[in-house]
Amino acid sequence: MSEQPQVIHRKDYKEPDFFVEKVELVFDLERDVTNVKSRLFIAANPARGTGKGDEVFLHGEDMKLLSVALDGVRLASSDFDVDAEGLRFAAPGSNFIAEIETQISPANNTRLEGLYVSQSAFCTQCEAEGFRRITYFPDRPDVMATYKVTINADKTNCPVLLSNGNLIDSGDLDGGRHFAVWEDPFPKPSYLFALVAGDLACVEDSFVTMSGRKVALRIFVEHGNEDRCDYAMDSLIRSMKWDEEVYGLEYDLDLFNIVAVSDFNMGAMENKSLNIFNAKYILAKPDTATDMDYELIESIVAHEYFHNWSGNRVTCRDWFQLSLKEGLTVFRDQEFSADQRSRPVQRIKDVAQLRARQFPEDGGPLAHPVRPDSYMEINNFYTATVYEKGAELIRMMHTLLGPDGYRKGIDLYFDRHDGQAVTCDDFAKAMEDANGIDFTQLKRWYSQAGTPELTWTGNYDADAKQFRLSVSQKTAPTPGQPDKQPLHMPIAIGLLGADGSDLVAQMVELTSDSQEFVFDGVSEKPVVSFNRGFSAPVNVMTDQPDEELVFLMGNDSDAFNRWEAGQKYATRLMLSAITAYEENGGDADAALDAQGDSVESFIAAMGATLMNDDLDKAFRADAVMLPGEEFLSEQRKPANPEAIHQVRKALRKRIGLGLMGDLANTYHQNASNAAFTPDATSAGQRALRAASLSYLVASEKGEYADLAAEQYRTADNMTDQMAALSVLNNLDHPGRAEALADFEERFAKDGVVLDKWFALQAVSSRDDTLARIKDLMSHPAFTMRNPNKVRSLIGAFAMGNPRAFHAKDGSGYEFYADRLIELDDINPQVAARLCAPLGTWAKYDGERASLMKAALERVLAKPEISRDLYEIASKSIAS
Ligand code: TRP
Ligand code: ZN
Repeated sequence: MSEQPQVIHRKDYKEPDFFVEKVELVFDLERDVTNVKSRLFIAANPARGTGKGDEVFLHGEDMKLLSVALDGVRLASSDFDVDAEGLRFAAPGSNFIAEIETQISPANNTRLEGLYVSQSAFCTQCEAEGFRRITYFPDRPDVMATYKVTINADKTNCPVLLSNGNLIDSGDLDGGRHFAVWEDPFPKPSYLFALVAGDLACVEDSFVTMSGRKVALRIFVEHGNEDRCDYAMDSLIRSMKWDEEVYGLEYDLDLFNIVAVSDFNMGAMENKSLNIFNAKYILAKPDTATDMDYELIESIVAHEYFHNWSGNRVTCRDWFQLSLKEGLTVFRDQEFSADQRSRPVQRIKDVAQLRARQFPEDGGPLAHPVRPDSYMEINNFYTATVYEKGAELIRMMHTLLGPDGYRKGIDLYFDRHDGQAVTCDDFAKAMEDANGIDFTQLKRWYSQAGTPELTWTGNYDADAKQFRLSVSQKTAPTPGQPDKQPLHMPIAIGLLGADGSDLVAQMVELTSDSQEFVFDGVSEKPVVSFNRGFSAPVNVMTDQPDEELVFLMGNDSDAFNRWEAGQKYATRLMLSAITAYEENGGDADAALDAQGDSVESFIAAMGATLMNDDLDKAFRADAVMLPGEEFLSEQRKPANPEAIHQVRKALRKRIGLGLMGDLANTYHQNASNAAFTPDATSAGQRALRAASLSYLVASEKGEYADLAAEQYRTADNMTDQMAALSVLNNLDHPGRAEALADFEERFAKDGVVLDKWFALQAVSSRDDTLARIKDLMSHPAFTMRNPNKVRSLIGAFAMGNPRAFHAKDGSGYEFYADRLIELDDINPQVAARLCAPLGTWAKYDGERASLMKAALERVLAKPEISRDLYEIASKSIAS
């Protein structure tokens, strides 16, 4: 990059000058030089008043242009302009055909955007702006065309030839080649185009839709992985059924394909009828995948399938509207998982994720609204804010409208906008119109960044039997938004009586900076359960006494707030101990002793949850986990990673010692001889057992480390093995080296599984971790070219090992900046996504902050830094 990249603004949106109505593509696939011929049926846009003689602009990057012809007449090179961004020529009329021939090199495409090679197969990734690396085209989502795609390739290397839509022709060609022709009848933006060609195995099933159409379902994987597709297929079928039942949405073609590839920048991609997945989110069998892997496969398969309506049939007008499809689709996949598994456990998981990833983003230098106002590189806006906070916004609409009102709005939205490229405002308008409601203030959640902070106080009048709840909200400034306005949000409230039952369970709507809610007929002084189910995505500041938190942990009818009360108590306790640790010169045990009875009463409350057989096991497993180090580092400035780590570890040890009998019983009672099944109930049992093991080991009684080593050796499934290995991972126990060696040997050739092995070593709390990571970079299975490998070893270090990453001597930062610089030349999109941890410098002490900034400076000084990495690094250093 020679100059500062251009900033694109939402307010500058203009409709396209020309549309493309139909596209015909012919690919001559070769790894080194692939020839692409395109025929574009172009039409002027009447709304723009364009026509003959006006400039036509087609995006195009990193291609060799061979020829351009308009209405059959080849252009001389003086009749068009081509530069690094694209191709320009004058329209020969209002309707014309452009024929363009280009060459690209899939084998040299390390960015994994456009057409590239993964293992031995060709595949594509076009969202957001990858299609312009395949051929010249108006590569923006408001240009929707039908596609007819011819693929020619070597028959031996590429027996499978796939694109979007229906197969309409195929046959043999000379020279050992063959061809296939695919036609997609649904007009779509270029970002949904896909092509796959390779020697892949296929697993097949079918689904009969609600109107009785039979749809063929196929999952393509590398040979040898056919036995790892069952769960993905089952998840797909359940997703199709759920979308019919809950949203009334039916699949619209006779074929649905999924392809799993090893090299992929993100999780998966919803290309019309040809979803392409990171293999990690498809492949599973009991001895290779954990319960968490199964859960992710289920939700991502569902997510991509749901995009067929929320994203494909109705798409985004421009990339600022990304949350239109992503926020809605995440909400849909969260609800799907809640219906398939346990609703409260799902909510806890989603909120924990939001707090761990989105809240820090919203409070840091990269904070941006759900609908951003500007960007340099759109790839950088596939964020937790656009996805997860966007989903919370839809969830609030759902809460405010109720299920029936929400469904009326959804029906109107799809009815009104099917086949269109629309905006977040259009979505909200459909919700408003269908319900005769005004969402003007609610829509501020689209435009205002930052996590609101709520404070409440309660006042009980025994004579009047009245409870008054005063609530106020405040949002701190974020980059570019110094002044914040009050937001509209639903707050679910419970008022509990002394017997634990609900005296009041009600939803109130907060709209002002501060507001009072009055509850009448409250027969006794209640305990408040605030923001039940996390009805609004906010931070709640409260000084509810410890006794009330313990009461809520044991009694709240809202399972989410039972969990929440425990997390609050644990957080308060640890923060106070962290301060004591800093004051006493680094003695974590003394710091806990200084907390008086709190530690014991907390452990007792946690023990009661652990042993409460009325509660779901998955819930109990979550409820006994302490808030993570990353979460704690958000709670106080400056964050002290060493203190956080030591205090949390010491508290875990006390829990292990304090509840040892119960933990051991729980561990043994939850062993199972039954064959592994991935259902939520069995997974919950395994999770509770794993939580027990981890506390038993934390007690530092040697026999339990032996027990973990034994569990690793005897387990018949990956979930139990990983549970054992992840606790051994932080120890000096001989079982650790033994288990790691065994794992490496067993999965040496199994990329997706071996990634777990890399990641474990990267997050180990042992002192030799960074040295070990450096060694692992020359492991034969490691390569900077594979995003999963980079995320497992390098990303996991920065994001999952705060103590090592933030080592006082700056060794973690220095190593990390070197990797970002190295990766930027290979894959800028992944490099930019990994840069965020260095941007958290403002949360740390002066010494760490300046080391982190120096690392960012070094990244920014990289010659030819990509636009992707430049945007993140420069914004990170700024504020
Ligand atoms: N649309 C995809 C999803 O959320 C995300 C995605 C996949 C993506 N690959 C990408 C986004 C590459 C940007 C770049 O389901
Ligand atoms: Zn998505």
